[in-house]
Amino acid sequence: SLPIARTVESLRATVREWRRQGLGVAFVPTMGALHEGHLTLVAEAKERADRVVASVFVNPTQFAAHEDLGTYPRDEARDATLLTEAGCHLLFAPTVSEIYPEGSSTRIEVDGPSQGLETDFRPHFFGGVALVVAKLLNQVQADVAVFGEKDYQQLLVVRRMAADLDIPTRIVGSPTLRDGHGLALSSRNAYLSEAELAVARQLNGILAEAAAAVSADTPIALAEDTATNALLAAGFRQVDYVAVRRADDLARFKGPVDAPARILAAAWLGKTRLIDNLPV
Ligand code: PAJ
Repeated sequence: SLPIARTVESLRATVREWRRQGLGVAFVPTMGALHEGHLTLVAEAKERADRVVASVFVNPTQFAAHEDLGTYPRDEARDATLLTEAGCHLLFAPTVSEIYPEGSSTRIEVDGPSQGLETDFRPHFFGGVALVVAKLLNQVQADVAVFGEKDYQQLLVVRRMAADLDIPTRIVGSPTLRDGHGLALSSRNAYLSEAELAVARQLNGILAEAAAAVSADTPIALAEDTATNALLAAGFRQVDYVAVRRADDLARFKGPVDAPARILAAAWLGKTRLIDNLPV
């Protein structure tokens, strides 16, 4: 069955042995509660390297006090089975004290693509993500690490952070896996009731319509407002943002859309916050 490393030392011993054998290594960081979307990242990682390390670590530093750290779904046995079936070679599942030992005092401040969008609503979030991902990348020392486009702003923040901190692991993006109704798979979908699920499945179509409108020269602000109103009419309780931004750095367009664009959104169904994004 799948070997599990609990410590950085045992993780490194395994990776060192692979290196000695001349094998390439890919890394897929997760917070567990794995679904098929995570497993497509493992498949992408297998395409790119001989050995795949996945991590499962529910990272406290990216949750605010009022968020779902305590209730975030956890099922390590199930995660390990899914990773084995997907052909992963090692699970790194450290404790909180292994990652953040007593006395840990270093934080990472992120700018650039972390500005706005998620940060307007979860100001703590990308600092916590950047810290844990920097540590994990240094711990695993893989050739490539695979991240989902599902969390598009996170992918850009991680890519920027790795470049800025001279972390040599190549950051690769992988497309969003959706259910048959267009809903992006997410661990937090488990929180949705049947009625909420039906509403959630409209998010992707509403964003696709707005993306098409922008492609047909509808002004960005109008397309964003129309989509926001459509989400509220569909049954979302609150829309944090719908935004059309430059795909490469999430900067706003000052005039017409003259570069690759991405539409990104976050909206609430009851107590569950969903995010999604699409190319324009
Ligand atoms: P988590 O939400 O578990 O996601 C782990 C990885 O799976 C992320 O790169 C995410 O973008 C990707 N992913 C999630 N749903 C996906 C889908 N439907 N299709 C494709 N990829 C999908 O993101 C995190 O964990 C954490 O912030 C982490 C990077 C591990 C740092 O703690």
